[in-house]
Amino acid sequence: MSLAETSLVEEPLRQHSLVQEIDYGTPRSLSEKTITLSIDGKQISVPEGTSIMRAAMEAGIEIPKLCATDMLDAFGSCRLCLIEIDGRAGTPASCTTPVAEGIVVHTKSERLDRIRKGVMELYVSDHSVDSLDRTEYPDVDLLETAAEVGLQEVRYGFAGARHRNPGIDDSNPYFAFDPAKCIVCSRCVRACEEVQGTFALTISGRGFDSIVAAGMDEKFIESECVSCGACVQACPTGSLIEKTVIEKGKPEWSAITTCAYCGVGCAFKAEMRGDEVVRMVPYKDGKANRGHSCVKGRFAWGYANHRERILKPMLREKITEPWREVSWPEAIGRVASEFKRIQAKYGRGSVGGITSSRCTDEETFLVQKLVRAAFGNNNVDTCARVCHSPTGYGLKTTFGTSAGTQDFDSVEHADVIIVIGANPTDAHPVFASRMKKRLRQGAKLIVIDPRRIDLVRMPHVEAAYHLPLLPGTNVAMLTALAHVIVTEGLVDKKFVRERCEWDAFQDWAAFVAQEHNSPDAVAKVTGVPAETIRAAARLYATGGNGAIYYGLGITEHSQGSTAVMAIANLAMATGNIGRPGVGVNPLRGQNNVQGSCDMGSFPHELSGYRHIADDATRAMFEVLWHKPLDAEPGLRIPNMLDAAVDGTFKALYIQGEDILQSDPDTHHVAAGLAAMECVVVQDLFLNETANYAHVFLPGSTFLEKDGTFINAERRIQLVRKVMEPKPGYADWEITCAISEAMGYPMHYNHASEIMDEIAHLTPTFAGVSFQRVAELGSIQWPCNEKAPGGTPVMHMNGFVRGKGKFVVTEYIATDERTGPRFPLLLTTGRILSQYNVGAQTRRTANIMWHEEDRLEIHPHDAEQRGIRDGDWVKLASRAGETSLRALITERVAPGVVYTTFHHPDTQVNVVTTEYSDWATNCPEYKVTAVQVTPSNGPTEWQQQYNELARNSRRVAVTAEAAE
Ligand code: SF4
Ligand code: SF4
Ligand code: FES
Repeated sequence: MSLAETSLVEEPLRQHSLVQEIDYGTPRSLSEKTITLSIDGKQISVPEGTSIMRAAMEAGIEIPKLCATDMLDAFGSCRLCLIEIDGRAGTPASCTTPVAEGIVVHTKSERLDRIRKGVMELYVSDHSVDSLDRTEYPDVDLLETAAEVGLQEVRYGFAGARHRNPGIDDSNPYFAFDPAKCIVCSRCVRACEEVQGTFALTISGRGFDSIVAAGMDEKFIESECVSCGACVQACPTGSLIEKTVIEKGKPEWSAITTCAYCGVGCAFKAEMRGDEVVRMVPYKDGKANRGHSCVKGRFAWGYANHRERILKPMLREKITEPWREVSWPEAIGRVASEFKRIQAKYGRGSVGGITSSRCTDEETFLVQKLVRAAFGNNNVDTCARVCHSPTGYGLKTTFGTSAGTQDFDSVEHADVIIVIGANPTDAHPVFASRMKKRLRQGAKLIVIDPRRIDLVRMPHVEAAYHLPLLPGTNVAMLTALAHVIVTEGLVDKKFVRERCEWDAFQDWAAFVAQEHNSPDAVAKVTGVPAETIRAAARLYATGGNGAIYYGLGITEHSQGSTAVMAIANLAMATGNIGRPGVGVNPLRGQNNVQGSCDMGSFPHELSGYRHIADDATRAMFEVLWHKPLDAEPGLRIPNMLDAAVDGTFKALYIQGEDILQSDPDTHHVAAGLAAMECVVVQDLFLNETANYAHVFLPGSTFLEKDGTFINAERRIQLVRKVMEPKPGYADWEITCAISEAMGYPMHYNHASEIMDEIAHLTPTFAGVSFQRVAELGSIQWPCNEKAPGGTPVMHMNGFVRGKGKFVVTEYIATDERTGPRFPLLLTTGRILSQYNVGAQTRRTANIMWHEEDRLEIHPHDAEQRGIRDGDWVKLASRAGETSLRALITERVAPGVVYTTFHHPDTQVNVVTTEYSDWATNCPEYKVTAVQVTPSNGPTEWQQQYNELARNSRRVAVTAEAAE
């Protein structure tokens, strides 16, 4: 496909109506027992525990309601949903009355109409509107319900002046609260408690003085509110409303799509007016999020229109020159001619590509195809190299497949939850809300993390045990937990005998039972008392369904793969695999980490994790692609950079990745990039890597393209185009154009055809197509003949590899040690409002919650160094140094410091080292020996770098580009 032939507007945007979701009024009952009753003469059978309101709605009989919604437990305060039941006195509320066998219910009568109308009239009079005209007020259920009950006049006026009204609170950047419109139905308060689990809202005052209050009667922005938007979504009156709805007006049409931020994979309705997004509303049928969202997916989408977005391709001969805007054909032509020239001069292996976990499956699949088929080598890697590659290795070795075992619904069945090396309330907030709900219902929590993360103690959630281990000691800790389980006879022998390799189990059991793996021995290494380790192990092994959730605090270590296998060992030894409520659950960082790995982005694997050296697999691709493939694995990202410094690797195509900011040992990354003759960056913004680029190709956002993302549950979901790509082409079209210019044309008319090819070539995706995903809403792979609807929970009747394999996990301390020069341990992570390198979130109002990266340091360590809160400090390691401001907190233990990596000004990866996981090269971000000293401000290096970045962003607009 050549770009010149591509039409910009390929098809009409497809859904010009608003997606309407049915509100059943109360949540679904999970009971297996069925009850039959009569409602308005219809015989209806529903699960026991269902409310009459829901039973009616499931049968298509709508009962007016205001305080009820199916996202929340019934509350019974508005008295609108009244019904009559034969043989029972009065008019009970249908939302709080459960179904009963044989009852006869009436939802309509003259008496009910009269009561409802009277109640409704009072509500409307208490709600500041000018009329009952529904067209004037967007999104106001109150007026819809008024129409439903036939209210035409309001005798008491519309002033809404009877409640206390302190005035509009518009302190939150994304939504406003107008107390005059509030009817105090408590839906917002309950949404904050039940759905989000933050407990930021209350009803303060009594009677007509009652009012919704955030925090201690503060402005929303000053309260504990985390801006998830659940209260806004729940509000039936428009009292809480998105500012974009006020500014842009009522949405006209919508499409279901998938969040482009984290690996939770929330489904949203993109609600549009023309080709402008009015708001993103979490989709209740989204199986990952079940109608909930976080501040990023819900509100932080404005970066798509940010003025710094680059919309035209750009070239420059040298990285010291300003950029020159050029036409697409010139840019593509330059990439192809440079890559061909470099391969002719330095050899076929001198070029490569990097796929992105922010891009769609189809886009990543095409980049690896470009590298293997058009470049003719296997030098392709993905950003998962630096996050979850150990998950792939560890779970494939032990279970036989490189993915988590459960769906998110599984947490509702967990009795004991271990969270290790993860901070879900910040990094996976919507899943964290579901987990918190389960914990409030009584499940027990064990947190294993150097920091006192929020889950350790927050409203209505408290960990049974917090094991604040020293960074770098995960394997010792996990093996000590196993020691307790084995030596105290807590192994599920039946499960192990039936489902696992017995010999390997025995070797492992003998190993973990050794004294050096005992809690007493390991306490000295981890800093966690032996008794706490013992108690946590006993709880996990004996507390019912045990589920382990982990994140990059496990993988980003020199023993990352070993730690993943140690987790798998624990789950197998206790029989916690193969049913809902248990399992091993990697919480993926980026939206499509799972997908980018599944698509064959690693140098040694084709899609579906099949080794490139496997002749039969390779032959399958060769036949379809009409191209012989190299059987030798190619270079990983760190190897590419090493080879560049050595002078043998000369050109790199990077799609949607900012390796300069996100990869470790920034000086080395910069040296590698600077040594290349052609660096091609495809992204939304001129990112930090682009400072070293010769060609910049503008990318498109998730709103501008069709495709699929795969979340942490292996769930394949559609990304739907709601506006045309601003640079003219979706990212996959650019890859096709480069390939054609390189002499290897790829022909697709639509992203769905790329998925058809993936399904054809990948057994675990054999049953996947865009149409099938659209029909089912989402599909968890494997999806094939054996599992046509997908696979929510894996390894149910046997492991993918046959028998589960225990692996001996000897703890080997990292070479990164503290000492007199660098006495503290640095570990890094991210926070709720920001996403990875911050390229998107820094360009939204989310920036107000995190204007800079700060260094968390314990008061004791700060005092020793004469550091006060907010002081500039120098953070130095043997790899480099940077400066940032201090945040004194007891969230970190003495001896440990912590920071985020969202701001390029800080460039915290200047200090992280070249150490990496022994099996996968995943960098050891989580352990760096550092020293912290007072400083006066940014280091000389930071100042020089910022100058370079400023220069590198210069764009010379040429006549050519203006055409
Ligand atoms: S936005 Fe979320 S956290 Fe904030 S008050 Fe509303 S429900 Fe609670
Ligand atoms: S960032 Fe993650 S949790 Fe937040 S809305 Fe997007 S997918 Fe959901
Ligand atoms: S909807 Fe049932 S009492 Fe409000």
